[in-house]
Amino acid sequence: SKINLKDYKKTSFDVETVNLDIKLFEEYAQVNSTLEMLRQTEGDLVLFGEELELLTIQMNGHQLDKEDYQQEAGTLTIANAPDEVTLDIQVRICPQTNTALEGLYMAGSGDDTMFVTQCEPEGFRKITFYPDRPDVLAIFTTRLEADKRYATLLANGNLVEAGDVVDEPNRHYAIWHDPTNKPSYLFACVVADLDVLTDSYTTSEGREVTLELYAKSADIDKCDVGMQALKDAMEWDEVNYGRAYDLDRYMIVAVSQFNMGAMENKGLNIFNTACVLSSPETTTDARSFSVKAIIAHEYFHNWTGNRITCRDWFQLCLKEGFTVYRDQSFSADQQSSAVQRIDDVATLRAHQFSEDAGPLAHPVRPESFVEINNFYTTTVYEKGAEIVRMIANTLGLDDFRKGTDEYFRRYDGQAVTVEDFLSALSITDNKIENFIDWYRQPGTPVVSGHQSYDSTAQTLTITLSQQTRHVSGFDAPKPLPIPVATALFDKNSGGIVAERMLLLDQATQTFVFENITSEPVVSLLRDFSAPVQLNYDYQDEDLAFLLKYETNGFNRWQVTQMLVNRILLQGQSSKSSPDIYLQALSQALPVLASDDAMLAARLLDIPSAQELASAIQKDYDPELVKMQRESLYQQVADTFKDQWSELYKQLPIDAYEDSAEARGKRALRNVILDMALTADVNDAAEWAEQQYNHASCMTERFGALKAMVNHQVANADNYLQDFYQRFQADDLVIDLWFSVQASANNVSVDVIESLLMHEDFDWNTPNRVRSVVGAFSAQPTVLWTQDGLDMYTGVIKKLDDANPVLASRLLQVLARWNTLVEPRRQMAHDSLLDLQKNVTSKHVMESLDSVLNAAN
Ligand code: ARG
Ligand code: ZN
Repeated sequence: SKINLKDYKKTSFDVETVNLDIKLFEEYAQVNSTLEMLRQTEGDLVLFGEELELLTIQMNGHQLDKEDYQQEAGTLTIANAPDEVTLDIQVRICPQTNTALEGLYMAGSGDDTMFVTQCEPEGFRKITFYPDRPDVLAIFTTRLEADKRYATLLANGNLVEAGDVVDEPNRHYAIWHDPTNKPSYLFACVVADLDVLTDSYTTSEGREVTLELYAKSADIDKCDVGMQALKDAMEWDEVNYGRAYDLDRYMIVAVSQFNMGAMENKGLNIFNTACVLSSPETTTDARSFSVKAIIAHEYFHNWTGNRITCRDWFQLCLKEGFTVYRDQSFSADQQSSAVQRIDDVATLRAHQFSEDAGPLAHPVRPESFVEINNFYTTTVYEKGAEIVRMIANTLGLDDFRKGTDEYFRRYDGQAVTVEDFLSALSITDNKIENFIDWYRQPGTPVVSGHQSYDSTAQTLTITLSQQTRHVSGFDAPKPLPIPVATALFDKNSGGIVAERMLLLDQATQTFVFENITSEPVVSLLRDFSAPVQLNYDYQDEDLAFLLKYETNGFNRWQVTQMLVNRILLQGQSSKSSPDIYLQALSQALPVLASDDAMLAARLLDIPSAQELASAIQKDYDPELVKMQRESLYQQVADTFKDQWSELYKQLPIDAYEDSAEARGKRALRNVILDMALTADVNDAAEWAEQQYNHASCMTERFGALKAMVNHQVANADNYLQDFYQRFQADDLVIDLWFSVQASANNVSVDVIESLLMHEDFDWNTPNRVRSVVGAFSAQPTVLWTQDGLDMYTGVIKKLDDANPVLASRLLQVLARWNTLVEPRRQMAHDSLLDLQKNVTSKHVMESLDSVLNAAN
């Protein structure tokens, strides 16, 4: 059943304190809880609970009988409760069979198991009966008890007491107390046998904080990157937002079975191993960089999410959008800010734009949902971050900081809304409240424009207009406030003659620049100042000009992307020729390769098939797009055929170093290696083997392996085998081994099926599933075939019951079936209809309903 934003009501009862006692046994766990509750409004006392075996329940010391409360699917209701209530509840749960990875679950198998929690958004109700909503804040005390082979017993807050269980020599316990008022989704506990890396940090307020990173003993040497990132993030938040940490202890635990990246539980973050472990030998630079970003993200949640939380789950973007904006800003300080912006925008365009263009389009703040887990989307996270960025840019650094200070001052300790956020940010400029429509309206705005130059008046007039598609089920779209960062370039000197932030907030508007002595080239949406699609009336020559003269790296990349899109996407008749693009590249590339290797690598990007597909509304032919992409790639490779060798050799393999410069060189070297293989440069296969054999780190080794596999060089299979043998014991590297095969250029459904049958494949480990099935889903030419669809929907069917969160995410990849060319479209439609008959989770059903709605 649907839940609506407009129906929000406070709970009748608030929780003051929670005492939890969790005892783990071989086959089950016993959870006893005591809740001190106070009435705040009229009405019944409602608790949520799922998959719980209720043993007993007492209210104010009296046993409740079956007729004293009402139990329905997912709720337990007590009518006529007094204003002050103490509830004692005993339940039994079974973490050992919890494959959904929500609530308390067992990860690992055999002798190597641990127990962890994932409570966001609604997992706590799988641990015990509770008013499991983000606006119910309480003080938690947690006692954990387990067999001593689980030496590590962790929960939120401070350790109060630990010891042996009386008369049970094999069991021990620990009691934790969290002094902060928190919602139940931030509860966490861990029962495991782990090693710990310890460090400390002194906050700007003088607090000594113990930092602990827990991992399996085999992984403890991969925790240094994460620990350093944590300290960097703590300092960054003090400097940039004036936010210091508030407890004496900060713990992070690595777990191999986890649905998402990581979770910001108060004082006790739980991380997917893939998002916290990192070492040069086993982790690519890209992964390692994202480890730092995710550590920072979860840390930043301590203020944006934990101390100030969401009133209800419709406000998810309140914490996620702001926190993503904060982690992106942190990352931009750790490398070239142009490259950071490029990567953020590329992700947004590939995933969020296509979400917004299809049947799963929803506002950054949705207005209704069946299953909130389905709304942890790129729209909520990444588009949410873009809104905060537009606000920050509109206000400027100082006023934005005044606004965020005000936000923390006003709302600390509360559960609030997007409106509250905007009202605090508006203290220096009340126009900021107009950004509310960005949160309410789905669809990516298209900004179109043209210019006219008046040589007598010496004025340049830019006309811009905006249009957003009308997404069914929502009001007709309104014009949004769109900041368009603009610069005018003199055609002769290449210098900037005017620079302005234009605010487009009407359907159509003109902007006049005075004293312009000759017609300039206009650069728009610099630094991607708004999450929109831009359609400006450019000549290819203008773009080539901008590639040469644009001052910042992001804008130069954006121009290459526009050129590539024009080459690949426009109708055959008006198609741009690649010549201008190739010529512009040949000017930019050699300089950049020595200047900023990471940026040079990005300039050679060709948008992914998914990103290109997101712009196609009808008759999308995956084969054709693939062919066009490959043919342009081939032309780039051939154009520079004589230069690859020299460029490659200018980037020798040095001793490993984790600096932005060294990472840039490694990235560019991998791009060049692939280009050289594409162009059939004589020794390129040998370079690849050399690079593999002499690699100083995983970026080099994996880059070489990937190139060999994609180009099917003679020895590729031997290297795949060597890679497997070297890293057999390391799950995260074996994930890479699976994914390189599943994403190979020439992959077939048979290959995927044999990977799924491999002895190391494991349906219960989301990372492993994603390494094969997720990688495969990025192969539209094979995915959208009868065999591909049978296989893929078969996987969703299989996971529907066991892990609905994962199943529903995999399903969302199929959202744009309706744009396919026949007969693929019909094939996909039939597969989805067939799937609909075979699934039962509300997660998958809700996604499937929306996806199938595209047909109407
Ligand atoms: N709050 C977490 C983060 O953004 C994500 C947790 C999402 N988990 C889920 N099951 N939907 O860092
Ligand atoms: Zn988050």
